[in-house]
Amino acid sequence: MIGEKDYWGKGYGKEAFQLLLDYVFIELNLHRVGLKVFSFNEKAIRMYGKLDFQVEGKLRESLYRNGKWHNIYLMGLLKSEYLKGN
Ligand SMILES: CC(C)(COP(=O)(O)OP(=O)(O)OC[C@H]1O[C@@H](n2cnc3c(N)ncnc32)[C@H](O)[C@@H]1OP(=O)(O)O)[C@@H](O)C(=O)NCCC(=O)NCCS
Repeated sequence: MIGEKDYWGKGYGKEAFQLLLDYVFIELNLHRVGLKVFSFNEKAIRMYGKLDFQVEGKLRESLYRNGKWHNIYLMGLLKSEYLKGN
């Protein structure tokens, strides 16, 4: 999370994630990375999409916030997919 909103949308999140994914796939040699994201967090979903994460599933109405139920998406990225794009 980037706590200071003034620093959102300047490429820092994507760059930090790319560094993390380099470490995870190249240094640690892990096979896959998975995450959960709230369906209303369009900014984060777009960022994960740009990093080649795919939506792998949906936990329907799993979060209750501000009087409404929201889905949670499961997203994942395989090492082979990451290496293809980088
Ligand atoms: C999600 C978060 C880490 C993204 O970091 P960021 O530095 O703001 O994002 P970046 O500037 O690197 O942008 C990466 C991509 O996200 C998307 N994005 C960024 N700002 C956006 C906006 N205002 N609207 C829509 N998409 C946006 C774009 O696809 C962008 O790629 P592009 O610039 O090539 O089009 C950051 O906004 C954050 O900390 N948010 C609050 C915490 C949070 O939601 N964490 C994720 C929980 S799952």
